[in-house]
Amino acid sequence: MTASRSKIPVGILGATGSVGQVLVRMLRDHPWFELSAVMASARSVGRPYGDAVAWAQPEPLDPRVARLEVLPCEPAGSGAGAADCPLVFSALGSSVARDVELAFAESGAFVVSNAASHRMHPRVPLIVPEVNASHLALLAEQSFGGGSSRGAIVTNPNCSTIGLVLALKPLVDAFGVEQVHVVTLQALSGAGRPGVPGLAALDNVIPFIPGEEEKLEIEPAKILGAVGAGGFEPLPIAVSAQCNRVPVRDGHTLCVSVGLGRRAEVQELVAAWNDFSVDPEVAALPSAPRRLIHVLDDPDGPQPALHRDLDGGMAVSIGRVRPCPLLDQRFVTLSHNTVRGAAGGSLLIAELARERGLLGGA
Ligand SMILES: NC(=O)c1ccc[n+]([C@@H]2O[C@H](COP(=O)([O-])OP(=O)(O)OC[C@H]3O[C@@H](n4cnc5c(N)ncnc54)[C@H](OP(=O)(O)O)[C@@H]3O)[C@@H](O)[C@H]2O)c1
Repeated sequence: MTASRSKIPVGILGATGSVGQVLVRMLRDHPWFELSAVMASARSVGRPYGDAVAWAQPEPLDPRVARLEVLPCEPAGSGAGAADCPLVFSALGSSVARDVELAFAESGAFVVSNAASHRMHPRVPLIVPEVNASHLALLAEQSFGGGSSRGAIVTNPNCSTIGLVLALKPLVDAFGVEQVHVVTLQALSGAGRPGVPGLAALDNVIPFIPGEEEKLEIEPAKILGAVGAGGFEPLPIAVSAQCNRVPVRDGHTLCVSVGLGRRAEVQELVAAWNDFSVDPEVAALPSAPRRLIHVLDDPDGPQPALHRDLDGGMAVSIGRVRPCPLLDQRFVTLSHNTVRGAAGGSLLIAELARERGLLGGA
């Protein structure tokens, strides 16, 4: 199946999984991109996508995509059936993603990854477009492929990190943030498919998500830092994270206390969030939310069931802003983990890259 001539052909690595499915849904009728290759494990390879996937999205699967044959996670030139797309989204687990993403970048593809494998590499941008689009400058330090190919790897942060940094960025700009204590209540869909067994999830809270606290403690410093002549300079910020899996389908809730660089009242924090202006280049991208940050008046918000889908799941919502007796201020923030925290976040990065002419061969 060939893509429409005016659209850039894209592939998805791990297209049958939790994040891959959201990407398939969000790419339907995309103005710039057309899904042309779906790739997954040997379990799925060779089957029509519609047969291989346990489709669990709220909209029907596009019949065109249902007919696509699932390909192995191999770039063009690797053999029969290998994918040839200038833009590739990775929704693979990190143990598999590392080598596969390198192979695609070496072949000249622009890889936008949801996996953790390359996030903290000093030459790999870790991007939340509304926060640190300027960090794409790190791509000049990458040297994948040869000749005219312009392969690259750009990464999307951990699903909880994204919600945290979107809430922190306006505070960092207005007051400085030095300390963060965060307790997460993370949705079941964050564990991928098939995920947490029903009997372990129901009527329960699991106070351990492997690797999650470490990611939440190190990624914000890179994203909120600066890119200088010597690479990225992390923001000096101390984060203490405690992560919990809770019986919620979608949407990660974070209870956050912050130690600020200067004293600020509740109303000043609310004003910083309400006045936060997204760069017009990013705000105009097709998947950008109309309003990024929704500060709620409700005394009992945000709640996953009520607020995770604001602006198509691409916004964050914030509530319960009040003084903290240990640090300075505290609040609750919520974001959709598979949309804003994964598929939608990576799609926004790809749109930004396309706007900046970074998609080699496209
Ligand atoms: N879920 C979230 O909320 C979320 C949020 C942010 C980031 N992430 C990250 O995004 C990535 C994907 O997460 P997920 O939740 O979508 O995982 P998932 O539901 O477990 O999906 C994994 C995908 O990878 C494929 N796969 C597994 N082993 C493979 C192999 N050896 N070779 C090739 N393909 C293989 C699977 O294909 P088959 O179906 O053929 O087995 C499936 O398509 C992970 O790195 C995760 O940490 C997830």
